[in-house]
Amino acid sequence: MLKERTVRTILVTGGAGFIGSNFIRYLYRARRGARIVVLDKLTYAGNVENLREFIGRRDFTFVKGDIARASILDEILPGTDTIFNFAAETHVDRSILEAGTFVKTDVLGTYALLQGALRHQVRRFVQVSTDEVYGSVRRGSSREVDPVEPNSPYSASKTSGDLLARAFHRTYGLPVVVTRSSNNYGPYQHPEKFIPLFITNAIEGKPLPLYGDGRNVRDWLYVEDNCRAIELVGRTGRVGEIYNIGAGEERANVDIARSIVSLVGADERLLTFVSDRPGHDRRYSLDSRKIRALGWRPSVAFEEGLERTVRWYERNASWWRPIKEGRFKRYYSKLYASRIESARSRKGRG
Ligand code: NAD
Ligand code: TYD
Repeated sequence: MLKERTVRTILVTGGAGFIGSNFIRYLYRARRGARIVVLDKLTYAGNVENLREFIGRRDFTFVKGDIARASILDEILPGTDTIFNFAAETHVDRSILEAGTFVKTDVLGTYALLQGALRHQVRRFVQVSTDEVYGSVRRGSSREVDPVEPNSPYSASKTSGDLLARAFHRTYGLPVVVTRSSNNYGPYQHPEKFIPLFITNAIEGKPLPLYGDGRNVRDWLYVEDNCRAIELVGRTGRVGEIYNIGAGEERANVDIARSIVSLVGADERLLTFVSDRPGHDRRYSLDSRKIRALGWRPSVAFEEGLERTVRWYERNASWWRPIKEGRFKRYYSKLYASRIESARSRKGRG
């Protein structure tokens, strides 16, 4: 009898979200032979549509559930080789409105998953963290050894998960690696986030609400470049280490907004300066020399990636239009309606 080939099992938590679903697409291209299990709670941000092309594959399993539930973990973790933990509450503005779910998932959920990984002797645990743990960066770029100074409930919760992952390595020997990437953009990003919100609002002829003076800076990374980096760290990163992932594409929000207006062919007068986000970090910037030493380079320049992204949202209105209906409208109105109204009346007076 032929000896059955051992097929590695990879658990991708939060696989129905933006980066997770792009990661699965990348994994199937990069590593044939892996069996992928997705564990996702399908919150407002999770969307099985993002995984439609994989449903029904023999090497793909979707499980709806919470990373914080030990009983589900005990069902799916036996035999798991690697965990990529993408599952999280991820939007800073929502964390300002309601921080509790961020603590539940990003702290307690991560803790439960780390414990599960230990119980089931998972070979590698990749904690997907963020550059927001470093807080606002006045000068230079954050290195992995820099102190963490999170400012929003989102970044504080992510920092806690990130540090728990480190502690599980130091204390219990769990083979953990941590990635801290900068802001991602690309296909399948929920339209609550800056770039897709501005693209879809521009297409719909709606105001583009820029916080404060619009000069906050983020270091933008095309999602596929991040997926390639996370897979690389999962395979070749040194256990116990942290890896920054940034493309060095720093841009001010207002400049991106203008590029979007121009790519969509919308009216510049849609740009609307609204009152600032509380605790708004001025700038993020990553020093990514450590992951570059593993052989990673970003491959998509910002202008090219932004154009690709705009064209994707133009072609895929049937994906984002339903998301912007219903409960999203209520959230949008709560966060933006009065700020946009005040901006309009200021303009009217001025
Ligand atoms: P997303 O909001 O698009 O997706 C999050 C996914 O996690 C959703 O499918 C959601 O249903 C799922 N989820 C939420 N709570 C869960 C729970 N308790 N149990 C199981 N599943 C749950 O987020 P994203 O932008 O794809 O981010 C993925 C990861 O990358 C997050 O950990 C985020 O902190 C990190 N990250 C994101 C960025 C970015 O720019 N998007 C940058 C750096 C780091
Ligand atoms: P966001 O996509 O929420 O990512 P993060 O805050 O996690 O970096 O926002 C990116 C930048 O865009 C940030 O400086 C806040 C700003 N922004 C706006 O100006 N208007 C908006 O409506 C949103 C959602 C974000």
